[in-house]
Amino acid sequence: MLDKLKEIEKSALVALQSVKDQAALEAWRVTYLGRSSPVMQVFSGLGGLSKEERPAVGQAANKVKMALEAAFAERTEAVKAAMLARSLEEEQLDVTLPGRGIRVGRLHPSTQQLRRVIDIFAETGFQVYTSREVETDEENFQALNFPPHHPAREMQDTLYIDAGDRGENPLLLRTHTSPGQIHTMREASSKNPENPPPIRVVLPGMCFRSEQITARSEVQFNQVEGLAVGEKITFADLKGTLSDFARRMFGQKVRTRFRASYFPFTEPSAEMDVECFVCGGAGCQVCKQSGWLEILGCGMVHPVVLENGGYDPRRYTGYAFGMGPERQLMLRYKINDIRYFWGNDMRFLEQF
Ligand code: DAH
Repeated sequence: MLDKLKEIEKSALVALQSVKDQAALEAWRVTYLGRSSPVMQVFSGLGGLSKEERPAVGQAANKVKMALEAAFAERTEAVKAAMLARSLEEEQLDVTLPGRGIRVGRLHPSTQQLRRVIDIFAETGFQVYTSREVETDEENFQALNFPPHHPAREMQDTLYIDAGDRGENPLLLRTHTSPGQIHTMREASSKNPENPPPIRVVLPGMCFRSEQITARSEVQFNQVEGLAVGEKITFADLKGTLSDFARRMFGQKVRTRFRASYFPFTEPSAEMDVECFVCGGAGCQVCKQSGWLEILGCGMVHPVVLENGGYDPRRYTGYAFGMGPERQLMLRYKINDIRYFWGNDMRFLEQF
């Protein structure tokens, strides 16, 4: 019987040598350690042995069983390691290599600058209002005090939309964000025509003009419009608010100046300059040796415009302003060609 056990162990270990995969491992386990395997049969046959023989055979069978179990565990590890090695070899997959990073996008420089402008006005108490890009002639021009055929329209070469004959009121792409002033005032005054509420809004967004595309002009660009309407609003409020904006945007020490100008929808009108932040006012290429940079147009809302918005100009006054975030970026970073903004060139965009 003891010889037979030796024989069982030997043939099981020999068979284990040729086990190369998971399925063969399992088959081997059933054959050599399963319930009807030769070792197990020895255990079940113990009862038929003599009293003297029983302990020795039992012990020997136990030893064989343990030896087979140990060999099986060892082989299992070896098979696993071999399978991993093989799959690494075949699939060329090195799980220890660091993963590939996900490319993180970023906001377009114009959007970043729009948000800087909006953040400053939001802190100052302005609400953000988004207005439409497709307008009527009435809202883009007439309500803003540009009558049909008025020469001031020539400052804003217009892209019209083919929408049938609408007479003096064609559809167009807004040439500036100023029609947002009309929408804001009409919306607010229609809710309470007798007593329209005060307004403080900024209106950011894209504008479109029929321009020859050059380094200095594009067919599309952003503007941020501002509008404040209420009782007893004065030019001093306009100057204070915009000077504060300039300091927050360009630095606390920056000086500002207002120059008289002309816009049909404001009276009086002005342009605001900030001291050149490139040369500090000494004169350089960016400020064309003047020491000043023009950054926005502004003025007191024209009585006709207030009226068109539903606000009685005898009771209400207001101020408005408009600025271009791309222009601010061009001055700030000495960008000499406006076409970079919509050229989708990663070498440009990645710098912001
Ligand atoms: N809408 C003017 C433009 O695009 C900019 C502007 C000037 C807006 C003066 C204003 C303003 O609100 O008061 O040229």
